[in-house]
Amino acid sequence: MNAKHEITICLGSSCFSRGSREILKTIKSYLKDRGLEEKVFFHGQLCSGRCEKGPNMKIDDVDYHEVSEENVTDLLDEIFG
Ligand code: FES
Repeated sequence: MNAKHEITICLGSSCFSRGSREILKTIKSYLKDRGLEEKVFFHGQLCSGRCEKGPNMKIDDVDYHEVSEENVTDLLDEIFG
């Protein structure tokens, strides 16, 4: 994996109340455990207006909706596994 990847997670109030804080922690641990922190630009963003589908996350150009602590690892494995 040479190119730098970008992960964006919504930290707006709706996504936050639906669990994006826990998802954020899970992603941070995932990247740390696999030594990917230098290769991934991981950051939060404000509400993008799609709260009803939240928690929302984006990896590179792909949008993911209804992300959870349970499914986020599988999503990350699809890219980084
Ligand atoms: S709070 Fe995440 S899309 Fe609105």
